[in-house]
Amino acid sequence: MFITNTIKYIGVNDHHIDLFEGQYPVPNGMAYNSYLILDEKIAVMDSVEACFADEWIANIRRELSEAGRSADCQPDYLIVQHMEPDHSGSIFRFLEEFPRAKVIASARAMAMVRNFFGCDFGAQGVIVKEGDTLSLGNRTLTFYGATMIHWPEVIMTYDDQDKVLFSADAFGKFGTLDVEDEWLPEARRYYIGIVGKFGVSVQTLLKKISGLEIRTICSLHGPVLKDNIGYYMDKYNVWSSYEPEEEGVTIAYTSMYGNTKLAVEELENELLERGVKVVVHDLARDDMFAAIADAFRFDRLILATTTYNGGVFPFMRTFIEHLTDRGFFGRTVGFIENGSWSPVAARGMRALLEKAKNIGYTESEVRILSSVSDENLRGIRDMAEVCMYNSRGCMSMPWCKRVSSLRCKCMWMIIIS
Ligand SMILES: Cc1cc2nc3c(=O)[nH]c(=O)nc-3n(C[C@H](O)[C@H](O)[C@H](O)COP(=O)(O)O)c2cc1C
Repeated sequence: MFITNTIKYIGVNDHHIDLFEGQYPVPNGMAYNSYLILDEKIAVMDSVEACFADEWIANIRRELSEAGRSADCQPDYLIVQHMEPDHSGSIFRFLEEFPRAKVIASARAMAMVRNFFGCDFGAQGVIVKEGDTLSLGNRTLTFYGATMIHWPEVIMTYDDQDKVLFSADAFGKFGTLDVEDEWLPEARRYYIGIVGKFGVSVQTLLKKISGLEIRTICSLHGPVLKDNIGYYMDKYNVWSSYEPEEEGVTIAYTSMYGNTKLAVEELENELLERGVKVVVHDLARDDMFAAIADAFRFDRLILATTTYNGGVFPFMRTFIEHLTDRGFFGRTVGFIENGSWSPVAARGMRALLEKAKNIGYTESEVRILSSVSDENLRGIRDMAEVCMYNSRGCMSMPWCKRVSSLRCKCMWMIIIS
């Protein structure tokens, strides 16, 4: 993979991993990126997961040799931007191979090295902070603090010669680099799942780097981003501001015996007939994190679930907790509940969502008693009508908690005024 004449890709592809960070399914595996910067001094940007140390060291040696460097040539620096084990796992293996190299990292990363590995770098360690620079000869690297994107020790690095931002985990995605897939869906699922809670930190960073000329983004996961850098910056700006990316409806549901599922299918059809973009997720069977990403992507969310031991069915409870943990905000939500003797799931879901700010609720809720009745079908049609309108109309009136619909008085007040 060509990056620039003097920046070489030396990362690895992990096809064996099933769950990234112990919970995110990665059917296309995961890439642990690393880069070699060839200048008067040579720098390596981050290491890789420990299992891939041999392959990584071989990649470094291959690129040094292809660049015409002598067999005893050693990198001068290893720059540790992030201490998660998928990037820090081979640091000490690197130092065995290249014992003269200095290790550059933030003060917090140095403390983590001690915690992870029980030792430190001694005189080989160099601490850098926001704004510090490192000259490699023809180029100067500048370090930017990127605290809580998504760990506290993270730094990013800007190369002023090739105009490259080494962005640590930001702008990354799930999937190896030898599998072709689109950046957006897996980058969104990665961002919302892993970084989503830290929107304020991302906004701070975007402002900090807004004056830099960036031609290339080298993330620690996913492809090197070269064309249309503004597109990726724009996506990060939207995601980190918690604004919906698109108009549309996410339906997230659970169902034990199939009746709630039937109601969801009815609602999906009604919405499709009305030309509304809709995605449906079975929270017990589908990837929960794809559902979470869609809940943030669209401006409207319908939650449909069964009452379970006087509360909310477990998968739905977990789903809502994932949303509120990540700062779910400013969307319109509607409920479909089911119960055979005392349905309380809608009340339970609403209580769980109380942690989320600026949520508007649809006027109508659907209460199913075991199986879908004719009245329920009418309720579902009403809900589809309401879901045709996006959440912005009435919610612009601060006292109105309803979704905008033609029947809402607020809507008429806005039109009249
Ligand atoms: C373990 C268990 C606990 C339940 N707890 C309640 C409950 O507290 N209140 C209630 O009304 N129904 C309860 N139900 C019944 C289901 O919510 C109800 O049958 C519902 O219609 C199932 O919808 P489904 O066909 O989509 O699975 C429970 C069912 C199970 C299996």
